[in-house]
Amino acid sequence: MKQVQLILLLSVSLVLLGPILVISIDLSSFNDDVLGLIVFKAGLEDPKGKLSTWNEDDYSPCNWVGVKCDLANNRVSSLVLDGFSLSGHIDRGLLRLQFLQILSLSRNNFTGTIAPDLLSIGDLQVVDLSENNLYGPIPDGIFQQCWSLRVVSFANNNLTGKIPDSLSSCYSLAVVNFSSNQLHGELPSGMWFLRGLQSIDLSNNFLEGEIPEGIQNLIDLRELRLGSNHFTGRVPEHIGDCLLLKLVDFSDNSISGRLPESMQKLTSCTFLSLQGNSFTGGIPHWIGEMKSLEVLDLSANRFSGWIPKSIGNLDLLSRLNLSRNQITGNLPELMVNCIKLLTLDISHNHLAGHLPSWIFRMGLQSVSLSGNRFSESNYPSLTSIPVSFHGLQVLDLSSNAFFGQLPSGIGGLSSLQVLNLSTNNISGSIPMSIGELKSLYILDLSDNKLNGSIPSEVEGAISLSEMRLQKNFLGGRIPAQIEKCSELTFLNLSHNKLIGSIPSAIANLTNLQYADFSWNELSGSLPKELTNLSNLFSFNVSYNRLQGELPVGGFFNTISPLSVSGNPLLCGSVVNHSCPSVHPKPIVLNPNSSYSNSGSSLQNNHHKMMLSISVIIAIGAAIFIVIGVVVVTVLNIHARSSMLSSAAPFVFSGGEDYSGSPANDPNYGKLVMFSGDAEFVDGAHNILNKDSEIGRGGFGVVYCTVLRDGHCVAIKKLTVSTLTKSQEDFEREVKMLGKIKHQNLVALEGYYWTPSLQLLIYEYLARGSLQKLLHDDDSSKNLLSWRQRFKIILGMAKGLAYLHQMELIHYNLKSTNVFIDCSDEPKIGDFGLVRLLPMLDHCVLSSKIQSALGYMAPEFACRTVKITEKCDIYSFGILILEVVTGKRPVEYMEDDVVVLCDKVRSALDDGKVEQCVDEKLKGNFAAEEAIPVIKLGLVCASQVPSNRPDMAEVINILELIQCPSEELQ
Ligand SMILES: *[C@@H]1O[C@H](CO)[C@@H](O)[C@H](O)[C@H]1NC(C)=O
Ligand SMILES: *[C@@H]1O[C@H](CO)[C@@H](O)[C@H](O)[C@H]1NC(C)=O
Ligand SMILES: *[C@@H]1O[C@H](CO)[C@@H](O)[C@H](O)[C@H]1NC(C)=O
Repeated sequence: MKQVQLILLLSVSLVLLGPILVISIDLSSFNDDVLGLIVFKAGLEDPKGKLSTWNEDDYSPCNWVGVKCDLANNRVSSLVLDGFSLSGHIDRGLLRLQFLQILSLSRNNFTGTIAPDLLSIGDLQVVDLSENNLYGPIPDGIFQQCWSLRVVSFANNNLTGKIPDSLSSCYSLAVVNFSSNQLHGELPSGMWFLRGLQSIDLSNNFLEGEIPEGIQNLIDLRELRLGSNHFTGRVPEHIGDCLLLKLVDFSDNSISGRLPESMQKLTSCTFLSLQGNSFTGGIPHWIGEMKSLEVLDLSANRFSGWIPKSIGNLDLLSRLNLSRNQITGNLPELMVNCIKLLTLDISHNHLAGHLPSWIFRMGLQSVSLSGNRFSESNYPSLTSIPVSFHGLQVLDLSSNAFFGQLPSGIGGLSSLQVLNLSTNNISGSIPMSIGELKSLYILDLSDNKLNGSIPSEVEGAISLSEMRLQKNFLGGRIPAQIEKCSELTFLNLSHNKLIGSIPSAIANLTNLQYADFSWNELSGSLPKELTNLSNLFSFNVSYNRLQGELPVGGFFNTISPLSVSGNPLLCGSVVNHSCPSVHPKPIVLNPNSSYSNSGSSLQNNHHKMMLSISVIIAIGAAIFIVIGVVVVTVLNIHARSSMLSSAAPFVFSGGEDYSGSPANDPNYGKLVMFSGDAEFVDGAHNILNKDSEIGRGGFGVVYCTVLRDGHCVAIKKLTVSTLTKSQEDFEREVKMLGKIKHQNLVALEGYYWTPSLQLLIYEYLARGSLQKLLHDDDSSKNLLSWRQRFKIILGMAKGLAYLHQMELIHYNLKSTNVFIDCSDEPKIGDFGLVRLLPMLDHCVLSSKIQSALGYMAPEFACRTVKITEKCDIYSFGILILEVVTGKRPVEYMEDDVVVLCDKVRSALDDGKVEQCVDEKLKGNFAAEEAIPVIKLGLVCASQVPSNRPDMAEVINILELIQCPSEELQ
């Protein structure tokens, strides 16, 4: 506000004073500069007070910070405010600076768009707006008044749109830099007519199309940077006529073809990068003519053939990168003449033969020959690695065919920082002199045939940060001296033959983040001190012979069960069995996830719970396969209802202690409640009637009734004709089923038996089946949220895992057999009933049980394949998809049948799997969970049984998928 008033005041005073000071024309226009700069300042935030010297009362701005004046007329000629942390818009106030030549506002926080008349300020020669937050297109006409412009940089902003054609009218232009914006479109055709251009930097944009011919007009061009765009086509044929070119960067485009021969004329060129394009053909022999080359990067193209000998003529070359091409042969001997060479990367080609010994005579700092077919046949050692050579810092010979032993004097490579010999056939032991490599910070000897033990001298390698020795035949103990390598963050010793215990000294490696000791023969217990490792995020000791208690605290409270698996003698909450008892086949659960926490507390209460609640509902699903069976079942109900009238008065009206009913009287049934004290309501109406029917399935009809204490139960009346087991067998099986208790399984509470009537009494879940919740309930109030759905999937997995652990196959998993309790916990019902059948074959299984279309594993159709618990995992996979998509496994459209898992699979192939998630969720779901869950569903629903994971794996995967932040809620 104050500033606005002040400006008004200034303008007014100028108007008033103007006529008086007619003689002094200079002075009045001089004040114009003050006014312009104050207006400019008024629109800015200046958090560091950099412009505090800009005082509106000053007579002249020439002493202000960042301002310079022309001595001839005392007018502002240069405004340089680089790195002042200014923000705001570039204000039109600057237009008043009629004599401005240099405007540099680089490295600030200016926002907004570039004004179309910006370049009409004064006679601007240099404009640098780089490294701000300017956005929008570069205005089309901005370059129309640029006759004096020599340097323009808009680099490192967020500018969009095209490079305006008007640029071609800036005849004085020498330097243009629009790099690191989001410009697209083609290069303006007139650009090659700006003969004065010396430097062009358009890198890091989205520019496209071909680089136009005609570049040879730019006879003064020294630097051409077009890297990281989408340019296609070829390098302009006559580029070599830009004889002064020193730097050419076409990296990371899609330029193809061979290199134009004219390039050999670029004898001043010091830097040539064509990296990351699609160039083909051989590396031209004339490359040796480009005598000034210091950096030559042809990596990641499709160059083939041999490396030309002429490369040895490049005696200024310091960096040569030919990696990731299809180059064959060996390195030419003449390269020894590249005496300035420091970095040589020819990794990932098809080079073969011996490692040229001259490589180590050249004073190289970095050598990467990784991923070729070099081999060293001079048994017994990699003899050409010199052992008293000081310059080498990086040596990467990984993924070749080197064999023999490591030279014992390797410690002589005293400057070595990175040594990667991974994935060769190197044998023998790790030389003790490794400890002399004081600068070594990456050591990778993994995937070789090293034997012997890890030398305790390794303690000398005090800079070591990464040590990878996995996949060898290393034996012996882990040396405690390793604690001296205090910089170690990454340690992988897995897949060896290490013995002994994990030394507690490891706990002194305070920077350790990743440690892998898996697949060794380590024994003993894990040192408690390991919990001190505060930076640890992965610690894998799986598949060893460790025993005793897992450390408690720190990282170990959240350690993944997978990281400790395969050590049968380990105990602790993570491996889900308490010390010291040993569980034969533990379900591996993460005790720290919210679900299993509630799980264990529920399980503790289970004994109290099992009396009360309960029942089963099995709403018959589409029984397409055995319509006949249904008909028989319905007929049976009628036949039975007359028989029932004799049994019912005794069973359901008395309120006596049914448990004591005479078991051998054929007219009087025997009611057994596993939990003693439940009774039916006195004078209850005949419960087995149509009114109380709540569902029917392959095994019979389900009714619901109320116990005397007010609890509901579900009663399943078994279809007797299918059961030919004796009472003894029946009772044994049912009692066994009654012992199966899990928070995700519907509890069996009791049974009733007469030769003609068998009832099973289950806990009753009023909220109904998963099928009802997903498909029948239209009210949005009952819409299952993503979090509820995830909980249901995880709960079902736990229930099913428990069944499989009990060696029970469900055979009939489907959404009508899963019930949801009030806390959204799913409970699987109808399990174990096949055990009541006299015999089990494909025919019975497929007709009687797997009647629900869409859930049935394909192996049911194939008589020669044994049906295993994997058939449940198939059904579970379909259930996952059903819960996530809210669609039935098979849906009938007007003239089409949509099979859910085929539909989801093809959506995944098309990359549109997110669209499969139930649209009723309106996008309210965590895609980072939903997508992997869908993939898991598809894996579970694999056609081939052996491709399906087992349930313990499924639970582990689900717990990994679960977003950590959500897990806390
Ligand atoms: C730009 O502003 C942001 C916050 O608004 C600040 O963190 C950053 O340091 C500023 N950048 C410069 C170059 O001043
Ligand atoms: C060593 O080389 C192998 C194979 O080229 C590579 O996979 C590995 O990441 C490298 N090791 C390190 C520590 O970079
Ligand atoms: C860790 O280092 C300290 C000091 O060097 C030493 O006293 C201690 O014994 C070491 N701890 C282990 C577990 O080796």
